[in-house]
Amino acid sequence: MADNSNSTVLVLVGSLRAASVNRQLAELAVETAPAGVTLALFDRLGELPFYNEDIDTGSVPEPVAALREAAGRADAALVITPEYNGSIPGVLKNAIDWLSRPFGSSALKDKPLAVVGAALGQYGGVWAHDETRKSFGIAGPRVVEDLDLSIPSASLDGKHPRENAEVVARLRDIVGKLVAEIG
Ligand SMILES: Cc1cc2nc3c(=O)[nH]c(=O)nc-3n(C[C@H](O)[C@H](O)[C@H](O)COP(=O)(O)O)c2cc1C
Repeated sequence: MADNSNSTVLVLVGSLRAASVNRQLAELAVETAPAGVTLALFDRLGELPFYNEDIDTGSVPEPVAALREAAGRADAALVITPEYNGSIPGVLKNAIDWLSRPFGSSALKDKPLAVVGAALGQYGGVWAHDETRKSFGIAGPRVVEDLDLSIPSASLDGKHPRENAEVVARLRDIVGKLVAEIG
């Protein structure tokens, strides 16, 4: 079995809100990372311009270059997102579009990727999570379909997810299995 203990996992959060529950899940994932595994939160999705092929040329805007470099350094990716209007929040979809290019050689090409998150609705954002898997599956990474966690945010009782033992255990399990998928 491969030794993946020195791996880096790129973390992307689909909410820009300061008090975001999904950002808190990202904090929890960082806190509970397996020994030696670095979870690197890329915190600049709000700085990306809207995807435009006219500016996706040799010299891309600096935040795009930073995203692609962070993705290039990573061995895997963990995407943590809410659901907006039954689908992927625009800020995350925009990041997927930037990461999908150059066509056929995405910085995440063939790297394992898992999608989790929390949303207010009773299904915890499962539509957004499924669509994020679908979209990233086209964009280049290797989506690990059976790693899923869609949390109805009411179940957290307004507390940080680190205070919910089941969420802590499930997220830790998902990150461990994601790292095990690194080739
Ligand atoms: C524009 C918008 C659309 C939303 N649409 C949905 C939705 O379709 N399903 C859902 O479960 N929650 C929906 N919500 C509620 C979010 O799940 C909730 O605000 C969640 O806490 C946002 O994640 P965050 O805490 O990480 O910012 C929506 C919220 C906003 C602002």
